[in-house]
Amino acid sequence: MTIILNTIEEKSVLEQISNLIQDNEREIVNTSDMKIAHCMGCNQCWLKTPGVCAIKDDYENILKKLVKADNLWLVSDTRFGFLDYKGKRMMDRIMPMLNMTIGFRDGWMRHELRYHALNIGLLYKGAADQALLEDWCKRTAANIGGHSLGAIPLNATSSMVQNSKHSTLNSKPTHLVIINGSPRVQKYSNTDKIIHTFAKGLKEGGITWELHNLSSRKEWNAAREAFLNNERILIAFPLYVECVPSLMLEFLETLPKEHKKPAELSFMLHGGMDEGNEFRLCERFLHGLPGQLGCSYGGTLIHGGSFRIRTAPADQVAKMVTPYVEMGRLFAQKGNFLSPEAVKFTGMEQYPWLVRKMVSLLFLKKVNGEFEQFAKDWGCTRPLGDKPYSE
Ligand SMILES: Cc1cc2nc3c(=O)[nH]c(=O)nc-3n(C[C@H](O)[C@H](O)[C@H](O)COP(=O)(O)O)c2cc1C
Repeated sequence: MTIILNTIEEKSVLEQISNLIQDNEREIVNTSDMKIAHCMGCNQCWLKTPGVCAIKDDYENILKKLVKADNLWLVSDTRFGFLDYKGKRMMDRIMPMLNMTIGFRDGWMRHELRYHALNIGLLYKGAADQALLEDWCKRTAANIGGHSLGAIPLNATSSMVQNSKHSTLNSKPTHLVIINGSPRVQKYSNTDKIIHTFAKGLKEGGITWELHNLSSRKEWNAAREAFLNNERILIAFPLYVECVPSLMLEFLETLPKEHKKPAELSFMLHGGMDEGNEFRLCERFLHGLPGQLGCSYGGTLIHGGSFRIRTAPADQVAKMVTPYVEMGRLFAQKGNFLSPEAVKFTGMEQYPWLVRKMVSLLFLKKVNGEFEQFAKDWGCTRPLGDKPYSE
């Protein structure tokens, strides 16, 4: 069974879809007039009601179809050389297909599958980075145990996005606008804990800072104003399905292409998985983004292993986030993340075979046990690997 999730309203696209995907057992789901919210990262589908999303909207029916499918084609418009927020939103909501527990598959740290494998393909409209989208399909499909069906442009304007100019500001940093791009409410956001630790280092280095949270749409106007009227901006956010969360993309799509004055945009990217390689595709995307918003690029600080900030005991959380103080000091000094010290902060790109064995035996057992305990304390009455929908 092939499910085609079409997020493009234009009627002419339907004919193109029909010509391109000729599976006898296919269903086209047009999502334009459906009520589908962004994933808010609440973790309930992993740790409270395994496999069931907390958001009660039209996505639940889509999920039930995906559970029965072998192939998923996403049909999406593009922005910034990548999917637009409507397309990305469909993929961020796919998380209940996976289980929170982690293991190694094909040599990489990944979530365990809740159901069977799903192959993923993309039909996209507009100018985009073809290579980036192809790689995104490969990575996203591999996360759900499947293979990529390819990324196919619906028109011929596919093009490379230029990398942004590197660090063009000469002035010493005095003030930093920080935007938390996590969809998770501030109180529970791992990014928030990282930001506040990083800010200790900023303060020691004599830099003032202000924070805006995209999880609250009420803060978007102030975040936009701060973005447009300051010269140093940092967006800190969690990796979501191999790239930027759909909510953050939606915010970025509301920004004008030009900045009021010379400005530099840096990023702090973190995510659940440990290995640096997990973040490289998103880093490629971030390289091209500032130039499309009228800014230069101040680098991306990358570090994995942040799942446990939510679930581990307080003393271990403190240990996990403390290295960010040093990164705050470094930013206060340099004004960007382009220095070798910032690049080194990521850690290992991929665990070698022996380390994988040891991590599996010693560390992941403990981590998965911690997830189970967290779920029990949260009132979860089902096993984490529960399958609420029939395959
Ligand atoms: C929808 C969704 C998708 C995610 N995708 C990834 C991913 O592709 N790789 C990864 O390492 N972590 C992924 N994560 C984990 C988050 O990056 C991680 O839990 C992070 O610490 C959340 O930060 P926050 O609490 O500020 O939202 C994902 C989480 C969610 C909810």
